[in-house]
Amino acid sequence: MCGIVGYAGNQQALPILLEGLRRLEYRGYDSAGVAVLDGGEVQVVRRAGKLEALEQALGSDTALNGVSGIGHTRWATHGQPTDRNAHPHLDCSGRVAVIHNGIIENFYTLRQQLEADGHRFASQTDTECVAHLVEGALAEGLGFADAVRKALKRLEGSFALAVLHQGDPGVVVGAKRDLPLVAGRGEGENFVASDFAAFLDHTKDGVILEDDQVVVATPERLDVTDLDGDPVEAYEHHVDWDLSAAEKGGYEHFMLKEMHEQPLAIKQTLEGRTDPQGRLLLDELRMSEDELREVDKVFVVACGTAYHSGLVAKYAIEHWTRLPVEIEIASEFRYRDPVLDRNTLVIAISQSGETADTLGAVRYARRQRARVLTVCNTVGASIPRESDAVLYTRAGPEVCVAATKTFATQLAAMYLVALYLAQVRGTMFTDEVASVVRELEQVPGKVELCLERSDQVRKVAEQYKDAHDWLFLGRHVGYPMALEGALKLKEISYLHAEGYPAAELKHGPIALIEDGTPVVVVHPSSHVYAKMLTNIQEVAARGAAIIAIAEDGDREVAAHATHVLRVPPTAQLLAPLVCLIPLQLLSYHVAVARGCPIDKPRNLAKSVTVE
Ligand code: AGP
Repeated sequence: MCGIVGYAGNQQALPILLEGLRRLEYRGYDSAGVAVLDGGEVQVVRRAGKLEALEQALGSDTALNGVSGIGHTRWATHGQPTDRNAHPHLDCSGRVAVIHNGIIENFYTLRQQLEADGHRFASQTDTECVAHLVEGALAEGLGFADAVRKALKRLEGSFALAVLHQGDPGVVVGAKRDLPLVAGRGEGENFVASDFAAFLDHTKDGVILEDDQVVVATPERLDVTDLDGDPVEAYEHHVDWDLSAAEKGGYEHFMLKEMHEQPLAIKQTLEGRTDPQGRLLLDELRMSEDELREVDKVFVVACGTAYHSGLVAKYAIEHWTRLPVEIEIASEFRYRDPVLDRNTLVIAISQSGETADTLGAVRYARRQRARVLTVCNTVGASIPRESDAVLYTRAGPEVCVAATKTFATQLAAMYLVALYLAQVRGTMFTDEVASVVRELEQVPGKVELCLERSDQVRKVAEQYKDAHDWLFLGRHVGYPMALEGALKLKEISYLHAEGYPAAELKHGPIALIEDGTPVVVVHPSSHVYAKMLTNIQEVAARGAAIIAIAEDGDREVAAHATHVLRVPPTAQLLAPLVCLIPLQLLSYHVAVARGCPIDKPRNLAKSVTVE
């Protein structure tokens, strides 16, 4: 869960590395550091805290002069986020510098062996042992890349790393296992990084490395080999989005911008996936209709917000296809011996396509011979590449750690998957499918309308910004939305919030309600509308301030709620797509009113690539 970037070219490396780190900061921001080969020596500057702390320490873009270097932004696993534990890490001689994303699981044993051999460690990190292993291999007379390859063979665990060596100016060696690493091919300059975004203003072309591959980047070449040094054919990739998509574009925060991109993101995710008659066209899935007809059970696995989209999908898939659906947090799935076979369809949902627990669940499911379909926003990421089938969402890059537009597109994509299953298996008539598709096509306009009502949500948010406990309630598909509303608020405003199925409240949590406790109820019209109204009255009677999310034209709710945030009427199963907007806006405005950092909340990182 760190970001790494390496540069080998003819320009000053430092500004390029810093720019790359800025674009990778979503991956972690506990500390940052750079190493540049300056005047024939490896020079390292690193600081605890966000990238600004490193920039301040450097003073100017020309603080380090050199045309090759590496940079790192960290989300701490081993060792506290201090200057000393910030990357890059050096060997004893200070000639080898290493940056690393991942966890070296056998680092304790390696460290003991290396210390016994006389190596002196300067940090508490697992990463530092890589620098000493490379140092040892160089001392045996191996060339730089071979020394890295030899060191890698001793590592257990996961890594994406980049190495710089004083004896090999203009060379950066990168390697990966289980965590993402890409290399960019420029003109007279080449790059390695965790993500293409790091060097997108230099090139959109490059390769995505596979596990246990090593890339040697020089200004002229990118050579990819396996761990034995044998050349391998790399997975070529061209990025089809623009850098402007990863910029704030006049908005105060990425989160705000990304919320406003939702109408377009949903529209793009639906586009070209139906014919004019409303039939689903999902040939891109790479899974035959026969295979889908054989499915007798569905598992959905995901984490965090993606899990909430899976919960909504469960209602849709069961209702439209009559297939039984189990939904499981990915980190629990593979450790409880779930019952899977060839006829089980496992659907993994992940915006990043990198989440370690979801990747682990996918691998487990495939080992049990289940078929795996992934819904993902990142083309070419590990999870879709390791799945049998993939449906990409088209949200574009999401920078804010709190997921918004990727959630909206996960919902849209999962509705398409559910409808496709129903179409293929004949559980819905063609005109029924077409009618839901038409309703889905209305959603972007409705989302736009909800966004225009942001000011009303802001007023409510400002009124309750100091309430330390919040409850979010919903029934049916409103329940996952309550969970998502609570998660968003916790994530970015640091307030305590709980999402509950509305009727469950009286089994315990109702004890939390005091005079003025804000209770957000997701309350669109549905077959459980009347029951929900009863639940609202139960909490209102105990002094709660009810913030209801209800449809335009619903007069009844106003009699029971303290505030009503309106959404346009929408078919019951699709209502999450509109209800999510006031929920997102509420958490955003509360966090702004509290002066929270919004895009980079404390302790979090965008992709969670450790278990
Ligand atoms: C949501 O706002 C989160 N930042 C987080 O819960 C996220 O959804 C989760 O980590 C899963 O990520 P993924 O979609 O990249 O797998």
